[in-house]
Amino acid sequence: METTVKNKQVILRNYVKGIPKESDLMIVTASDPVELKVKPGSAAVMVKNLYLSCDPYMGILMREPTPSTLALLDAFIPGKPIAGIGVSQVIDSDDPSFTKGDMIWGIVNWEEYSTINPAGIFKIDVNVNVPLSYYTGILGMIGLTAYAGFYEICSPKKGETCVCLCGFCAGSKQKVDLLLKKFGYDDAFNYKEEPDLDSALKRCFPKGIDIYFENVGGKMLDAVLLNMKPYGRIAVCGMISQYHLETRDRLQNLPDIIFKKIRMQGFAVYDFIDRFPKFLEFVLPYIKEEKLTYVEDIVEGLENGPAALVGLLHGQTLVSKFSRLLESEEIYHVSCMDM
Ligand SMILES: NC(=O)c1ccc[n+]([C@@H]2O[C@H](COP(=O)([O-])OP(=O)(O)OC[C@H]3O[C@@H](n4cnc5c(N)ncnc54)[C@H](OP(=O)(O)O)[C@@H]3O)[C@@H](O)[C@H]2O)c1
Repeated sequence: METTVKNKQVILRNYVKGIPKESDLMIVTASDPVELKVKPGSAAVMVKNLYLSCDPYMGILMREPTPSTLALLDAFIPGKPIAGIGVSQVIDSDDPSFTKGDMIWGIVNWEEYSTINPAGIFKIDVNVNVPLSYYTGILGMIGLTAYAGFYEICSPKKGETCVCLCGFCAGSKQKVDLLLKKFGYDDAFNYKEEPDLDSALKRCFPKGIDIYFENVGGKMLDAVLLNMKPYGRIAVCGMISQYHLETRDRLQNLPDIIFKKIRMQGFAVYDFIDRFPKFLEFVLPYIKEEKLTYVEDIVEGLENGPAALVGLLHGQTLVSKFSRLLESEEIYHVSCMDM
């Protein structure tokens, strides 16, 4: 049995300006082989990474940190592996809560083998019959974000109109078709082909919007503000259109927040980690009864991870999340998923 292995990693070359490019990342094999054991007394857990998720926030962490971004998370370090949500198998553990063979999800480096601090990783119940890859998406950070943002921040009431952009509108015909035909939306539009976003929203929501789940920011938020109803709520989850701009969009319609007494609140999913068990209880029946449509888009190979991550940030994938699957020592997959 091998006691040391080579460790392939995805490294950030330098801090990024503008939208990240594939060349901002590189694949290396770490110079020191990895010992497949944790140090006694370290309380650490060693894992083999099976799936890695690509998420928009990772683009922010590739940029030089600012006081604002540091309030969210530490930036990646040039010359070191990038990190993200992964699904992994425990190889060795100095923490009694984890044993060899356990499946976990949490933050890991983009590499084959990681030694991690077990605080903040979750053990996966493998008796729940769902694909492991779901824990990089719908059953992990992304699902919890949607759940916490919607139920805890938006406070929905029966009969209200809710708009979730990055879901309701998309950047290609193919994605709009997916929203209408596969995900069952009543209406959807391609934001890249709408010369007037305000008119597009009025066409789709003639009675106005009660709840807006913000994922996009910029011009879209400006148009949504014009279409919000009095006492509407906006959960500010993300602003993907603004992350990589050197000069961000200036909004014209912020006074609508006062005029319409709108409540607008930003949030970060890690403030809701304690809701995770409740969230699983909530969402698993929907998955089992096939009441929730979920799609995964798979790209194979750790080598293809950088292209997958960059492609996500450019909207080049059909559905919008990637993860990497390591099926065996040699074969990798990168998958892409959306709710
Ligand atoms: N607050 C939190 O704790 C938290 C947690 C998770 C995610 N988030 C945020 O939530 C948002 C959605 O995350 P997600 O993981 O679900 O992402 P996602 O659906 O994977 O979103 C990525 C998609 O956004 C679209 N996009 C890219 N640039 C855009 C632009 N300029 N305008 C409009 N759409 C653009 C692209 O698709 P198109 O082809 O449609 O353009 C891209 O594929 C992101 O802003 C993310 O940062 C926040």
